[in-house]
Amino acid sequence: MRLIRFLAISIFVVVNYNSAVADNKLVCYYDSSSYSRPGQGKFELSFLDNALQFCSHLIYGYAGIDEKTYKLKALDDSLDLNNHNYKKVTELRRRFPGLKILLSVGGGRDGTYNDDRKVEKYLKVLESADDRFKFVNSVESFLKIYGFDGLDLGWEFPETKPKVIRGKVSGWFHKLKDKVIGEDEIDEKANEHKEEFTALVRDLRNKFKHEGLHLTLSILPNVNSTVYYDPNIAQYLDFIIIKAFDFYTPKRNPKEADFPAPLFPIFDRKYQENADFQVRYWTEHGAARNKIILGVPTFARTWKMTEDSGITGVPPLKVSGPGIGGPYTQNPGLLSYPEICKKLSNNTIKHELRKVGDPTGRHGVYLYRTVDDHNPEGIWIAYDDVDSVGSKASYAREKGLGGIAIDDLSLDDFRGLCSGNKYPLLRAARLKL
Ligand SMILES: *[C@@H]1O[C@H](CO)[C@@H](O)[C@H](O)[C@H]1NC(C)=O
Ligand SMILES: *[C@@H]1O[C@H](CO)[C@@H](O)[C@H](O)[C@H]1NC(C)=O
Repeated sequence: MRLIRFLAISIFVVVNYNSAVADNKLVCYYDSSSYSRPGQGKFELSFLDNALQFCSHLIYGYAGIDEKTYKLKALDDSLDLNNHNYKKVTELRRRFPGLKILLSVGGGRDGTYNDDRKVEKYLKVLESADDRFKFVNSVESFLKIYGFDGLDLGWEFPETKPKVIRGKVSGWFHKLKDKVIGEDEIDEKANEHKEEFTALVRDLRNKFKHEGLHLTLSILPNVNSTVYYDPNIAQYLDFIIIKAFDFYTPKRNPKEADFPAPLFPIFDRKYQENADFQVRYWTEHGAARNKIILGVPTFARTWKMTEDSGITGVPPLKVSGPGIGGPYTQNPGLLSYPEICKKLSNNTIKHELRKVGDPTGRHGVYLYRTVDDHNPEGIWIAYDDVDSVGSKASYAREKGLGGIAIDDLSLDDFRGLCSGNKYPLLRAARLKL
């Protein structure tokens, strides 16, 4: 009798757990360029093993579009093809049978954003039905050859122009200027591009239907959904990931620092620049809630504080460009999660750093060091820690969203350098989902 009761409870628990996993997706981005980072930043494929038990989907970043033929292409032939990285990744399915492995095209990595926002080919390919057809056909065979389960569209639409941070600072003046010279106009054919993109997504879906391939959309930071996406495309997509971060970056806003990835609106800021607004835009325009996945960053944005930044650290604050890059990522204005912990545990500097948490789970955390006689150089570091990632996962669950996406695994603490626990941010998301 006892045994039967035990079995019944076990079965109940197992079934329950599985249904929870099936309902809430935990999408994991994998940026393959992380392979070439130095030292402890180098991400070997074997590091995926400790992550994939938590992930429902793995998104391989990134593939590109050939600007002459409009066919899908690998971005790093030597790694992806000659070194068989595509194959090695899709073969992980044998050990993780439930895992879906998708290839992402674009993602802001197709050499375009570095090139002064030259995203022309992502617009050009849309403009003729012929070229769209070329792209769609190339995708299907490409995915099959390398064994991917589907395609993620990280479409590189033009970004909005950065603006001053406080909503009200000379607001009337900006409005006037916009009216007169159309400052907000970034793409005069935006309406056509929106319709053509819908057509592309529909064509891909029709093609994929017969093959059982998955089709997803990643909305890149600072791409205005109103301008480029018809919410009706949700019906053709398995899910839509909103990369609700990088509202402010040292590149876009070198003179002002602010929370780059708030969950909720913050007083006196623009109402659109938070995850909740982005999510509601889609769900209030007809996209099914369970198709919306909230994208969460595993990296910090950093700025240099100066004497003009004040001493409180409270954003928004005046700054002077990107903070110094980390030892592994070597990218000014960016630190990976383990690079942040290393600073917090460094005996030389940890006493000078102040961490300000986010008990309300609304805006993310920050860490700063002001300028004074000892420190000629200050820094302001804003990010999501274990608690604020947990808040975002709870939000996704409570709002009935499809789940959370971690962007990306190679910037989480995959070696367990912070506390010995590998992938603390990924785990925090799983725990609260
Ligand atoms: C997006 O575009 C719409 C329509 O053009 C505009 O009203 C809105 O302010 C834009 N949002 C952002 C964040 O720029
Ligand atoms: C601690 O920080 C100092 C100053 O930035 C740096 O020179 C040193 O290498 C760091 N130590 C470790 C163990 O990372």
